[in-house]
Parts: sequence; structure tokens; C-alpha cells
Amino acid sequence: MRKPIVVGNWKMNKTPEEAVQLVAELKPLVAGIEAVEIGICPPFVCLTEASKLLKGTNIGLGAQNMYWEPEGAYTGEISAEMLVTSGCRYVILGHSERRAYFGETNATVHKRLEAALQSGLSPIVCVGETLEQREAGKAEEVVADHLRGAYEGISATDAQKTVIAYEPVWAIGTGLTATPDQAQEMHAFIRKILTELYGDSVAEGVRIQYGGSMKPGNAKELLAQKDIDGGLIGGAALQAESFTGIIKGAL
Ligand code: 13P
Repeated sequence: MRKPIVVGNWKMNKTPEEAVQLVAELKPLVAGIEAVEIGICPPFVCLTEASKLLKGTNIGLGAQNMYWEPEGAYTGEISAEMLVTSGCRYVILGHSERRAYFGETNATVHKRLEAALQSGLSPIVCVGETLEQREAGKAEEVVADHLRGAYEGISATDAQKTVIAYEPVWAIGTGLTATPDQAQEMHAFIRKILTELYGDSVAEGVRIQYGGSMKPGNAKELLAQKDIDGGLIGGAALQAESFTGIIKGAL
């Protein structure tokens, strides 16, 4: 049985002060929920404060990106070790916004994935097609390419420690959600690729989140699908009530 995992990706939202407020609101709302793994990924500058507030709670902390080198002259970058020592358990890698606006490629996602695993972080690897790619009938090809590119050379033991987030780009922040059938179809395809790469037992164990306009109103139906094991939540994670509503949809 895969334990559902719901993670909030705050993107470039919330100052440290606002983050403290949101964490304070969220903690009591989700206290006692053990059947769902819960995480939040605030901006880098909020991590230290958030980490203090999350100690001893059922909410794990994560970051939205990292660089693969351990240290050095890489102005503006953050290492895996910095995240670990700031209290992070998760790191989101290869989000479509990073691919679209910051030049990330399968090759750079792969380097980040290797470095994150070496540092003991649980990477959340994002894959997903654009609307243009879907309409051209290339959705599966693109997702397979994202997966093969990221996981090339990653061992089965390490692959088991990762989470995959299927985020169709056309559903992110648009209010357009993939239908449960559309999402399930792609999640099953992702699991098929994992089987090809690592065999049945790894493929059955890796959790695959859906992301893209997930809300309390549509979460339950999406999360009820056989191969949907959680959500990576953008907009709806910026309010404690709506994020909690989605988490409860996974119970
Ligand atoms: P929205 O939930 O705002 O569509 O964003 C999804 C996402 O990109 C999470 O990483």
C-alpha cells in the first residue's frame, strides 16, 4: 500500500512573516492526520523559520529547487546540504516553471536528482506535457522522455526514495484540471515506464502525485484513482483551509 503524499508548492509566494502565519494556521488543522504524508515547500528565505515551527509536527519541510554542486562560486544557488541543514526533507526538481523560465533540461534535472539523493533528501521529480504537446499526440512521449532523462543511471534503491509529480503544464494555475480518467491514464503510463526501468516491485512502490489546479472540490475524485498517490498543490496550498481540504480528500 502506498501512503498518499500531499505537498504544497508555495512557488514565489509568502514573506517569512506570512509563512509563519500560514504554518501556524495549518498546524492545528492537520494535527493528528497520520494516514497522509504532508509537506510544504516555501521559498528558501522562509525555510529556517518554518523548520522551527514544524519540529515535532506531522508536516515535513521541502524546498522548490537546488543546485547540484556541493559548494563554491555559484552565485545565487543553494546546495542540497544547505537544504538538509535548514530542516528540509523534500526538494522539488524539474518543475515545469523551472524548465520553461530558467532553462532546466532533463540533463540538469538528472544532476540535481543525483545530488539530492546523495544528501538524503526525498526528491519530488516533476514531469508533464504542454497543451501543444498533448494536442500533437505527444504527451506520453514527453513524459517518458522526462522520466528517462531524470532517472538515467539512478539505482533502483535510490529510485524508491523518490516521488514523481505528474503536472500537465496546461493544468497548472489555469483552473483546467485533468479529468480523473486523463490523469489516471498518464499515472498508469508513468508506472509502466518505471516497471521498464526498475521492475514491478519498485514501480509499485513509487508514489506518483498529480499536480495542476487541484482543489478541495476535485481532490477526492482524483485521489481515488488507482495510480494517483497524492498531490503537488500550488495555489490551493497558499491557504490553510483549502490545503487541508485537499489533504482530507486523500484520507
Ligand atoms: P496549481 O495548483 O496552482 O495549478 O499549481 C500546481 C503546481 O504547479 C504545483 O507544483
